[in-house]
Amino acid sequence: MFRNFKTVSRILYGRGGFAQLDQLTEEVRDDRLEGVAFVVDDVFKDIPVADRLPLRERDAVLWVNVDQEPSTETVDALATEIRARRMNPPAAVVGLGGGSVLDIAKAVSVMLTNPGSSADYQGWDLVRNPSVYHIGVPTLSGTGAEVSRTAVLIGPVRKLGINSDHSVFDQILLDPDLTITVPGEQWFYTGMDCYIHCVESLSGTYLNAFSRAYGEKSLELCREVFHGPRGPGSDEKLMIASLHGGMSIAYSQVGVCHALSYGLSYVLGLHHGIGNCVAFNCLEEFYPEGVAEFRDMCGKHGIVLPRGLVENLEESRLDRMTGIALSLDPLWENALGDNWRDRMPESRVRELYRRM
Ligand SMILES: [Fe+2]
Repeated sequence: MFRNFKTVSRILYGRGGFAQLDQLTEEVRDDRLEGVAFVVDDVFKDIPVADRLPLRERDAVLWVNVDQEPSTETVDALATEIRARRMNPPAAVVGLGGGSVLDIAKAVSVMLTNPGSSADYQGWDLVRNPSVYHIGVPTLSGTGAEVSRTAVLIGPVRKLGINSDHSVFDQILLDPDLTITVPGEQWFYTGMDCYIHCVESLSGTYLNAFSRAYGEKSLELCREVFHGPRGPGSDEKLMIASLHGGMSIAYSQVGVCHALSYGLSYVLGLHHGIGNCVAFNCLEEFYPEGVAEFRDMCGKHGIVLPRGLVENLEESRLDRMTGIALSLDPLWENALGDNWRDRMPESRVRELYRRM
């Protein structure tokens, strides 16, 4: 059976495009009384972007802090707050921020029309009711969250996405100007998320011509961006690389690095981008060319990865980490094929972790 996957319905792209957010929200306000819920990264509290939100009476701005990875608890609290403001439901949810904020916005839009806790929907195709119309405005490039159907959340027992057609954004607004001020390390780690999506997609068993076309273009753009200094034009390229990397994995899957990185994030609280980099650096056996190029790019951008994070970790926490990684069957299957369990027993995962 071939996957019949849903994609973002509308894309607005271009420098300065953020000014058109007003028009995009206006289109969905229609004659309805409900306002728009803006879910915004709190790093924007004191910078001009927030001043430019097209706010109307009855709209709400919900600041979110993503120093920690997004959790089901955060999503449930935001959905409760929106309901408490008598936005039942809002005309739209707008997410403005990096991948974590976009994932929170996707999950909140799902939770406004579905009962229970967001933890109930961590998994594949568990969401029943269509979500509230939602718009994604990325301010950081690389995660592919703007185009993916997953909203990755740390839940009470696992780090796993809400993977649903209902979580896909109805509209995204890609304005490269919004990413210009991203600090260097964050820019690099998040960009490497995209690079690693491509490497894992292009070397996976799920690969097909569709994924290859997007993955190869994304990889080419990543190379243009990261083999030179960060300069004019690189923000545009990375934004489009992120979109293409996301499209590539939409029809294939990520692999060993992401599986291990999920465990790292869950137990150590590492952000996705840096978690991927720490894991990827230890995976030359699986991705020899990719890891060599990655190290070269780290060198060019003066990135020194943290080391010894897992070396001396307590056994119980390593058990948890290993359990999380091994629960992600599709990622391993894509990377290693049908008999992946034979090639990746628990002892092997632990050994890989101990190198990090
Ligand atoms: Fe990723």
